[in-house]
Amino acid sequence: MLDWTQLEALCRSCNRCGLCQTRHNVVFGVGPRDADIMLVGEGPGQQEDLQGEPFVGPAGRLLDDMLSIIDLSRENCYIANVVKCRPPQNRDPLEIEQEACIGYLRNQYALIRPKIVVCLGRIAATRLIRSDYRITREHGQWVEKRGVWMTAIYHPSALLRDLSKRPETFRDLLSIRQKIQETGARF
Ligand code: URA
Repeated sequence: MLDWTQLEALCRSCNRCGLCQTRHNVVFGVGPRDADIMLVGEGPGQQEDLQGEPFVGPAGRLLDDMLSIIDLSRENCYIANVVKCRPPQNRDPLEIEQEACIGYLRNQYALIRPKIVVCLGRIAATRLIRSDYRITREHGQWVEKRGVWMTAIYHPSALLRDLSKRPETFRDLLSIRQKIQETGARF
């Protein structure tokens, strides 16, 4: 396991997959490095690629609103993605790209040692919870892995496209709020 300085330097100069050829910035992650709550998306979009920060585009604005519903904000969560470089046209990251990149996320997770992990969308859930995770059926459910509580909610981009998913997501947010209380996670 690398320390933060080593990890960030390695990640910022990464050329382990083809996404390095089209990126403007590596989107490493933001937030307190001792956060109890970690949020994981799939990969940077256009704005994230240009600004070098996760969830700063339209989906990110919705994410901020969702967090504020349960008194969270990006100041008290660590936010990262499965892949750190933008997939062209915002396509899903390929398996080979996820494989090349996942080690950075695992190292971040090991350094942060969060109490709660919230996967934003299917890609993060299949990587972190279970490879056959079904977001439509299983969102909002909790699993405990080695003392860490994990759940997944719909990706904010999906919620921008499909308003009908929002009521379920509201319930999922409340269950995150409850898990924070149960675990005494700091926020
Ligand atoms: N979508 C993601 O999954 N991650 C981001 O950082 C932005 C949009």
